[in-house]
Amino acid sequence: MRRQTASARERAYDTGRRRQWLAGEARAEGVSRRRLLTVLSAAGVLAPLLTAPGAHAAPARGTAAPGILKPLPEHLFTVRGTNAETRFEVLRGTGLHTPADRFFVRNHTETPQLDAAEWALRVWGSGLRGGPAEFGIDDLKSFRAYERSALIECAGNGRGLFAEQQGQEVSGTAWRLGAVGSGRWRGARLADVLRAAGVSEHAVDVMPRGLDPAYVDDGVDQGRVRRPLPLAKALEDVLLAYELNGEPLPYDHGHPVRVVVPGWVGISSVKWVGDIEVSDAPLYSPWNTDTYRLFGPSYPPEGSAPLAEQTLKAAFELPWEAQLRVRTEHLLTGRAWSGRGGVDRVEVSTDGGARWRPARLHDRARSAQWVRWSLPWRPERTGDVELLARAHDTAGRVQPERTVFNEQGYLFSAVVRHPVRVA
Ligand code: MTE
Repeated sequence: MRRQTASARERAYDTGRRRQWLAGEARAEGVSRRRLLTVLSAAGVLAPLLTAPGAHAAPARGTAAPGILKPLPEHLFTVRGTNAETRFEVLRGTGLHTPADRFFVRNHTETPQLDAAEWALRVWGSGLRGGPAEFGIDDLKSFRAYERSALIECAGNGRGLFAEQQGQEVSGTAWRLGAVGSGRWRGARLADVLRAAGVSEHAVDVMPRGLDPAYVDDGVDQGRVRRPLPLAKALEDVLLAYELNGEPLPYDHGHPVRVVVPGWVGISSVKWVGDIEVSDAPLYSPWNTDTYRLFGPSYPPEGSAPLAEQTLKAAFELPWEAQLRVRTEHLLTGRAWSGRGGVDRVEVSTDGGARWRPARLHDRARSAQWVRWSLPWRPERTGDVELLARAHDTAGRVQPERTVFNEQGYLFSAVVRHPVRVA
């Protein structure tokens, strides 16, 4: 079945790209890795040779992921194919927003290095009253600027736990919980730009498309990353962001402009946006038909509706298989978040789920944002334990013990059993 192979192929593609990269056949910043290594060994320095003004150096240390430009040191990231997962423990003490140097990266292909001065956004399609409109970066900045906090989270975040915790094989990148980051985004409202472009009363969908290379899946060219958004959401709270945490968007996160769709699955937040189709009929792309729907025995043959809002999760800011000292007081910390409303309660169990204690919340419940939480714990016995955290959201949802299976492993929401060794 086509839809089943799509994200299995994604993993094969990721692996293939990685092999290519290691063999020196892939390119980053226009420099092949073999050439990069030659340059490095000859010069013994990295930055002056490879850093153009305002550009990011190619990874000097840590594990390279093909096509990602920022450094990916091993203590911050786990590289998974063309993607880099944030290690949750490095979020401890970082505040509400994730510093750009540790923000996860999910790339279908590779990060393009675009020049903001040459960039333009084309808005076109049957849902406009007139012809296409074009906006350069200065035009975009002339719209009233809005700033808002929002998480970007991959729909497959937690996917690896289907196998690890539920014994179910699913396809796609086997993330644990670090395919999520929180940003303070600044930009123009998509609604304002669409109005300026002359959106008509007949428009129903808009489809932003990225300027990164086309995604080739098992020899089939799927075109550039694009996914439709219903007009209602597009007009509600979507940003065309040009800043992350007070700085111009980094290359890997969409420079110069990305879409930010608060509360929705990460694929909606198209990076390096180059054009937006506005249509008077529903739009489709492989990213809302073959993937980013739920398929499996619990769903209709054509899959669920295209995924929209995110699910509910809680995570410990601890290494996976953390080592903690016995008879010592530890402050357990973590984050919990929901795509529907905010998280207003977190409970923690240190005995495998028999008893639950309320954690202290350090932030108020806010939509599309996480809350930080903490709870002191003094383990009295040595041995292996599983720590559990369970979030409740303002919409009345609570994390279940198991997530209903879907073939592509999306929207994992079960309580995670975090392994810890007390010694
Ligand atoms: N946009 C483009 N153009 N290309 C991509 O590969 N990946 C999407 C989305 N936007 C992607 C994209 C996915 S699946 C996710 S989860 C988020 O970007 C990841 O954003 P980040 O890399 O800034 O964390």
